[in-house]
Amino acid sequence: MKYMGLNELREKYLSFFESKGHLRKNSFSLVPQNDNSLLLINAGMAPLKAYFTGQEIPPSKRMTTCQKCIRTGDIENVGKTARHGTYFEMLGNFSFGDYFKEEAIRWAWEFFTEVLEIPEELLYVSVYKEDDEAEEIWHKKVGLSKDRIFRLGKEDNFWEHGTGPCGPCSEIHVDRGEEYGCGSLDCQVGCDCDRYMEVWNLVFTQFDRTEEGTYEPLANPNIDTGMGLERLAAMMQEVDSIFDVDTIKALRDQVCQIAGVTYQSDASIDVSIRLITDHIRSVTFMTSDGILPSNEGRGYVLRRLLRRAARHGKLLGIDGEFLAKLSATVIEVSKDAYPELADKQDYIYKVISNEEENFYRTIDQGLAILKGYIEELKAADEKVLIGEKCFKLYDTYGFPLDLTKEILEEEGYKADEEGFITAMEEQRVRAREARAESNYMGAAETVYNQIDAEVNTSFVGYDKFGHTSKITVMANDQKLIEEASMGEKVTVLVNETPFYATGGGQIGDLGTIKTKTGIVIIEETKKVIADKIGHIGTVVDGIIKVGQEAAMVVDEANRLDTARNHSATHLLQKALRHVLGNHVEQAGSNVNADRLRFDFTHFTALTPEEVERVENEVNKQVLKGLKIETCITSMDEARNMGAMALFGEKYGDEVRVVNMNDYSVELCGGTHLGNTSQVGVFKLVSEAGVAAGVRRIEALTGSKALSHFREQENQLNEIAALVKAKKGAVRSRVEDLMAELKAVQKEVESLRSKMSSNAAKDVIDQAKNIHDVKFLAVQLDELDMNGLRDMGDKLKDQLGTGVVVLASAKGGKVSLIVMTTKDAIDKGAHAGNIIREAAGVVGGGGGGRPNMAQAGGKDASKIADAFIKAEEVLTSQLS
Ligand code: ALA
Repeated sequence: MKYMGLNELREKYLSFFESKGHLRKNSFSLVPQNDNSLLLINAGMAPLKAYFTGQEIPPSKRMTTCQKCIRTGDIENVGKTARHGTYFEMLGNFSFGDYFKEEAIRWAWEFFTEVLEIPEELLYVSVYKEDDEAEEIWHKKVGLSKDRIFRLGKEDNFWEHGTGPCGPCSEIHVDRGEEYGCGSLDCQVGCDCDRYMEVWNLVFTQFDRTEEGTYEPLANPNIDTGMGLERLAAMMQEVDSIFDVDTIKALRDQVCQIAGVTYQSDASIDVSIRLITDHIRSVTFMTSDGILPSNEGRGYVLRRLLRRAARHGKLLGIDGEFLAKLSATVIEVSKDAYPELADKQDYIYKVISNEEENFYRTIDQGLAILKGYIEELKAADEKVLIGEKCFKLYDTYGFPLDLTKEILEEEGYKADEEGFITAMEEQRVRAREARAESNYMGAAETVYNQIDAEVNTSFVGYDKFGHTSKITVMANDQKLIEEASMGEKVTVLVNETPFYATGGGQIGDLGTIKTKTGIVIIEETKKVIADKIGHIGTVVDGIIKVGQEAAMVVDEANRLDTARNHSATHLLQKALRHVLGNHVEQAGSNVNADRLRFDFTHFTALTPEEVERVENEVNKQVLKGLKIETCITSMDEARNMGAMALFGEKYGDEVRVVNMNDYSVELCGGTHLGNTSQVGVFKLVSEAGVAAGVRRIEALTGSKALSHFREQENQLNEIAALVKAKKGAVRSRVEDLMAELKAVQKEVESLRSKMSSNAAKDVIDQAKNIHDVKFLAVQLDELDMNGLRDMGDKLKDQLGTGVVVLASAKGGKVSLIVMTTKDAIDKGAHAGNIIREAAGVVGGGGGGRPNMAQAGGKDASKIADAFIKAEEVLTSQLS
């Protein structure tokens, strides 16, 4: 076998298929776009689904990619074996209704035997048992003898992944030699052992698997092939596993070096080394695609991988943070193929260290709690930790379930996974209920799915507000329609529109569409499917019909207010990077005509001083009147210009760059001002955290900022009027008033205390004598419970040996307290027992200690009776 490095193999593959007329694309983000059926991209074809089904038109009928993929289905085995991993790269060549089986098979063979020069005698293939055509091609066209072709069943040779494109497949296997085999006499292709390794999967995508589980034939059969790059490299480098492949070995060696351990010296140490090596790759790539650790969805997968790796670092005896260091190696060995890694490296390190630090902060606490749980299980002779407790560890101490499971298993216990899921579901329901209902309007997605893929809308509104166009499609919330009349809600599609559709964080335009026969007021503009722009609104006059010419008019004031906020958002991002550092990345933005909202990565609240610096910097750029220019250019050129790109955004080959006189250069498709001075003024109105590591700023511009200042000023005027001061003197006036208030409060305090001493003197004479113990019962309605207690203390002091019962009735509620002196207790008095019975009389309850007890009640008319009861109880206590 000819030795080739992993990076070299990737390049060889992509350029080979490029030479066969394929459009070569960079890997898509790990975050699926417009696809709710997947959490993370798990195959080369996953980001291309819409091209396979025909819902979208591909930029070329032949494409080739090396796609980053994550599969966590086997996460439990990662580390334990040398075969499993969560992160891998998948090489693929795709045909969308272009070439089919023959070319796919021939090219695969050519690549293996001529480019990689793999000896033919090591190659075997399998085909789906009913696929005579594929067998025929292998045998007749490629010349492979029949004993090298195996027909296998659906489990092996039919590829499907949830819903979507699928079909029979043919796999190429490489014989790694007897030493990898199981030794069995019938060891051959299809055997579970490591000898015949399946390397390349050629899928002949002929069907679309529907939600209902049926297989619909696709109009054009496609080709989807997939080959794990790491596995291919292991084979070419003639090493035992992916952990021995050049780039991954570099990482593995670094793990060993940081931990001061040797690979293959101890089985359990190897588990941790492999696990960390694998997980840090997933973590680095996920982070570079904008995923942040959280307790939900993708964020949870990231948290789980990162925390598992951190814990295994501890098991290896690594002291302190180490994951960012490893991440640097991942970036170093992969950055040529994945430029986003180098672009975002500061940010990646920051996210990883921050999560690692958070984890170490809670891990000891969580481990102690888990240890406690294990002790409890041991004591109760039980084996399973209940779901609620697993969930508590997860929710409060950030212990991913599999971490809890792993630790439990090490001690011979199990986790109740179902109970965990139930507890998590319950929390989700609570969270969902707490969230406001979304105000989605317009037709359901299924209606838009019916729109012909050929129908397209081009946006022509960067520099105009009006355009004449033709209505191509209309829909209501049930179906596609031909016409709509007054009062109806409708989605209108045209061939060319000046309306900007919601996207890139900017809310779509408002406006009107007029035809000869009717008018629609547009309340929302958005892409309804792929790039098709829907204008959603209500017919307010007449009737409108498909095929009509339409005068499209955008609400200009609304568009400009929105542009003010959008341009200011670019300035803001730049200013934040200057003030806070380059780890600041956009984590979301939402710009409309009223305000801008910008979410960004940063790990602590901004200080008032930072807020002021950011605000000043943005306004400085506004005042400078920077010219805002846009241009369309290649991604490479944009990168050279230093343009900031967004995570996971699907950029085409041509990108639009918005340049504010080189101060801010961003890739952006939004509508902007011509000059920063049109922002008018920028006012930051709030700064808060929205998720771990994500802050949110809200700000105003233009007339909205002015209204804000006016509102503040009005408030100040009102306050000035209230405190009767001139505007400039409000502060000192309020300070004076506060001082005055404080003095008055102090005086009230002292008068109150004097009054109660006097009152105490007045009532003390009313005390009765019961067996040499004074008994005093008084109703004092002006006092609350605290007042009663103070008064009780005073009376007790003056009474000598005695028992005080006080009551007050306020707002329909009765408060009752009983206090006794120490020597009264010695004689048998017990406040708690007295109050229990007395409180019953006023319809309440309570209790307490021998010296002091309090209670509440409802019936104020019975207070006198309660006093009598108290006297009776005391009498019996003393006799
Ligand atoms: N989509 C096919 C796979 O993942 C090629 O194996």
